[in-house]
Formats: sequence, C-alpha cells, structure tokens
Amino acid sequence: MCGIVGILGASDVAPNLLQTLQRLEYRGYDSSGIATLCEGAVTRRRAVGKIAALGDLLDRQPLAGRSGIAHTRWATHGSPNQANAHPHRAGKVVVVHNGIIENYAELRQELMDSGVIFTSDTDTEVVAQLCNSFMAWQNDPFEAVQKTLDRIRGAFALCFLFEGQDDLMICARKGSPLVVGYGDRDEATGMREMFVGSDALALAPLTDQISYLEEGDVAVLSRKSVQIYNHLFQPVERDVRRIELDEVLVDKGEHKHFMHKEIHEQPASLARVFGSLIDLQKGRLSGDLDKVDFSGVRRVVLVACGTAYYAASVAKYWFEEFADLPVELDVASEFRYRSTPLRDDDMAIFVSQSGETADTLAAVRHVKGRVRAVLAVVNVPTSSIAREADHVLEILAGPEIGVASTKAYVGQLALLAALALKAGKDNGLVGTDAETSLAVAMAALPRLVSETLSLEPMVQQVAATMVSARDTLFLGRGVLAPLAFEAALKLKEISYIHAEGYAAGELKHGPIALIDEHVPVIVFASSGPLFEKTISNVQEVIARGARVTLITDPQGAVLAKGIGDHMLIVPAVREELAPFVHSIVAQLLAYHVAVLKGTDVDQPRNLAKSVTVE
Ligand code: F6R
Repeated sequence: MCGIVGILGASDVAPNLLQTLQRLEYRGYDSSGIATLCEGAVTRRRAVGKIAALGDLLDRQPLAGRSGIAHTRWATHGSPNQANAHPHRAGKVVVVHNGIIENYAELRQELMDSGVIFTSDTDTEVVAQLCNSFMAWQNDPFEAVQKTLDRIRGAFALCFLFEGQDDLMICARKGSPLVVGYGDRDEATGMREMFVGSDALALAPLTDQISYLEEGDVAVLSRKSVQIYNHLFQPVERDVRRIELDEVLVDKGEHKHFMHKEIHEQPASLARVFGSLIDLQKGRLSGDLDKVDFSGVRRVVLVACGTAYYAASVAKYWFEEFADLPVELDVASEFRYRSTPLRDDDMAIFVSQSGETADTLAAVRHVKGRVRAVLAVVNVPTSSIAREADHVLEILAGPEIGVASTKAYVGQLALLAALALKAGKDNGLVGTDAETSLAVAMAALPRLVSETLSLEPMVQQVAATMVSARDTLFLGRGVLAPLAFEAALKLKEISYIHAEGYAAGELKHGPIALIDEHVPVIVFASSGPLFEKTISNVQEVIARGARVTLITDPQGAVLAKGIGDHMLIVPAVREELAPFVHSIVAQLLAYHVAVLKGTDVDQPRNLAKSVTVE
C-alpha cells in the first residue's frame, strides 16, 4: 500500500503532485507529503491525515520547484505522525517508498553504530540514510542507489531525488508496482516531462504513455533520456504503451460516495462481464473463456484474499456442482507458506481486484510451473498478477475506488460462475441444454440485480435498526454461507461494528452463546432444499431473543410465514446463482449502516484499497 509519485516537470510540480496523490489516496491515507527541488535545494511539506490536510498546508506554505516526489501513507513501521510521513530525507537524498524493508532493523543499527542519527521510526528512512552514506563515497546517485538496493531486502517501489540534481529521478521496483509515464517531447529542446507513479490510473491526467517496470527494474530518468536496467543492472527496453483514457475516468457523479455509485453500477458492470463470456444469441459460453481448457484437469486450486477470497469460496460450490472437481481453497497469506501438493493436472485460479495484492502475487509465484496453468481473475489487466499468469480473465468492473469492494466482488462471482460452467463443459459433465439453461440464467442477472437495487429504501430501514448494535451475526447455508462471511466483512470494514459470518448449521457449535436481543441476526436463505434447515436455525436464534432480518425470495417469503422482525424479498433466481442478488442487499445494508453511523465510507480507517505488503 502507500502511493508514490514523482515528476520531472516543465513548471512547478507541486499542484500536479498533489492532484496525483489524490488519485492514489485509495492506497493509504493516514499521512502524506511532498518534496521538491528548487534550484537544487530540497524542501518538504508533510501532514498527518487525509491528503486534504497536505493541500491546506501547501496553500499556507506553497512549494516551488520543477522536480518533486510525493507520497500518501498507510503506516507499517511507525505511527502516522509528521516525522514518519514521507518523503524521507538524509543529507543529499530524498526518497518515497511503498512496501516494507524487512532487514531495516539490522541496517538501522549498523548505521547508528556509524554515527547516523535517525529522525523517524520508519523502515524507509533506512533507505535514505543508506543511500546518503553511499553518496558520501563517490557522489554518484546511480551507484549509491545500486549499492542501496544490494543491501535492502523486502518489497519496495522507491523513487529518489538528489540535492543539486534538478534533472534526475531514480526509481526502483521489487514486489510493489511502479509505472513510468512519458510526456510529449518538445521538438525544439528535445525535452519532455517524466512521471513515475504507483499506478497508471493516477498518472492518467498527466500522460497516457506508460511503461510498466518489471520486478527488479531500476529506471534513471531525466527530461532528455530514460534508461531502464533489469535486476542485474543490465540496460533493458520496456514497452511504452498508450492507455485508454476512458478506462481511467473516475468521478462520483450524483452519488455521495464512490461505494454507492459502484453498488449502483452493478447491473451495467455485470452485463459487461457476462457479455464477454456468453454468446447471448445462442445462450452458450464463448469469448474470453475459449482460451481456458479444463479437459483432464483433476483439481482446482483457488487462492485470494479478503472479499476476493469470499468470491472464491462461493466458486468452490460451483466447481463442485457444475464440474465435479475437487477444490483446494485458501487465503493467499496461508497458501503461499503451506506445502500443498501441486500437480500438473491442477488448474490454479487467483482472484484479485487490484491484481497487486502482495500475498496473492506471491502465491502465483509459488505455483507457477508446478500446475497445468495459472489463471488470473482480475479487474486490472495490466497488474502484476495479470502479467505473471498464464491466462488473464478480466471482470470488466471498471475502476473501483471505494475501499470496500462491491462491483468487483460481483464481477468476480460472474467470472467464476462462468468458469466453473466451462470446466463442467470441458470435462463432459455439462451438456448443451444445461449449458444453455445456466448461461441464460446468468444473462438475466443484470436485470435481477437492478430489481434488487430497488429494495434500497427498505434496506435503509433495516440499517437504522442496526446502527447502535455492538455485535451482529450473518448466516447462510450452501452457496449463501460464504455470502454471509462477505456480508459480515462488508459491515465491519465500513461501519466498525463487530460482525461474524457463519454457516447457519455451525451456529449451535459455539456462536449461539453470543445471541441475545442486542445482537441483530441477518439471514440469507433462498427457497431451495436447504431452506427449511436454515429456517430451523433461525427459530433457534429467535428462541434466544435475537432480532432477525430474513433475506429471501418470493417463495421463501411464503414458506417462512412471516418469521423474524424484518423481511427483504429479493427476486427469484436459480438457487446456485442466489449470491448475486443477496450480495446487493448485503452491500446496501453495510453502506447505509455506515452512512447512519457517519463513518468515512469510501476510506474506512486503517484500510487501503491495494494491499501490497505481506
Ligand atoms: C474488502 C476488500 C478487501 C480485498 C482484499 C484483496 O472489501 O476489498 O478484502 O478484497 O484486500 O484485494 P484484491 O482483490 O485487490 O486482491
């Protein structure tokens, strides 16, 4: 996490640095800072809190200078105060960093033993001090960076400026994403503006010409030339691509929050992704799925983090049901360190909205070359995970800015449902009729999701009854059990109310001890074979005084005969596909509870959108 940006500009860069930081704020927002070089001298401004605080500081104390670097922080080492905010400076060196320097404690001790005095608690200052100590030898920035990189371990995207060198910026990446952006060359002078950023989206207003740095790359930038070196410090070329500007337009429109906008975008984003997977005329799978072949695959390995993991958890049911394939499912932070046996008839699927999550990326590397193929289900096709996978499947959700994932989750469900169906088709389990019946049901989901959104006023009423709760419980069975976990995650991350998701049948094995009249219980149940069993579990909690909200379909509403305090009726849908409509209610519920509580919905405390640290 953390967002970094650097600019070698044609005029004062502070306004563009600030604007770019705002576009990176999703990566972390507990403090931020800017350093510029003006006639060779370094000046810094750093502020605690959101980037708006840095903007206020710059209004009071503007910064001149045509070269600059900036940072928005998600604290790892050291609390979010001004001293720990980036850029960090040591003598001639000023640096911003995204990632973690794992051996910082030993390096810090070594530097302190040689007389260096530290001014922050961060791992990043070690990089600045180390680089400055190498500068003292030969005053050669590239060599100093090279020597610094040789000494540090961990994950990093780094961007350096050097006092006295207005036309030099050096950046390096290992484990954390970094892109280089090229301005238009001025024919008369042969110069152009140069940009560095954590993602292409952030640089979009400044340039659409981007190079993605690869693992271990170091780039030495000036307005006249760019030289990129690989991890062995050998000169290399990296493609310069034009990125589509309409991919990067981000705006809240008439919505109060990005999360609300993104919840309401789901009929359109779902139509887009199903359109890329299903031939709607023929009612058959097509398009992007053709490049994936499950013939002979004996097991699916599904790995992800957070919400993406909960989408993968739903998919486990689908791969079992549609394709009769065993599924090895785990969170990436565990999977990457397990000695899971891997075989060449395993299909490994990694799910990640950002495509940059450090644990998921490490898990990709852990299996690469040891399985039939590595599939990346991502929203960002240029991301690190996408670039390292054998096949990329895009969920086409468009930029997701709200930290709590909504449309990306539903897009992941869509892609994974179609993929599981493809697996069943490839191994001969799903015949043409079954394929068409499911494909047609999937194609109807955008409309059904749109109908579900019209429940919003009723969801708001239920939300009002939950605002003062300290604990909440979400229950579901079958394919709706993982949806209950996701619903709980959504509520806790944006409303800060403690929420647990449970498979309804597990309740009596412990969590039922928590139930009393102060614990709202939200139950997802569709009117399939598991309905009666779920309702029995509901009766168990009602008997213990719980206030229950039942979310079910029209037939379930009839069968439930009015049990519970509130009922929300979602459109009827095939049981396997019920998570699509139920998830909309879960998202709206979390959103409205958070709004009523007055929390920062789009940027909840302690979180960041892209988790590029372990
Ligand atoms: C929660 C949420 C996170 C992410 C998780 C993985 O709403 O968004 O739990 O799902 O950090 O991120 P990606 O999907 O980018 O790998």
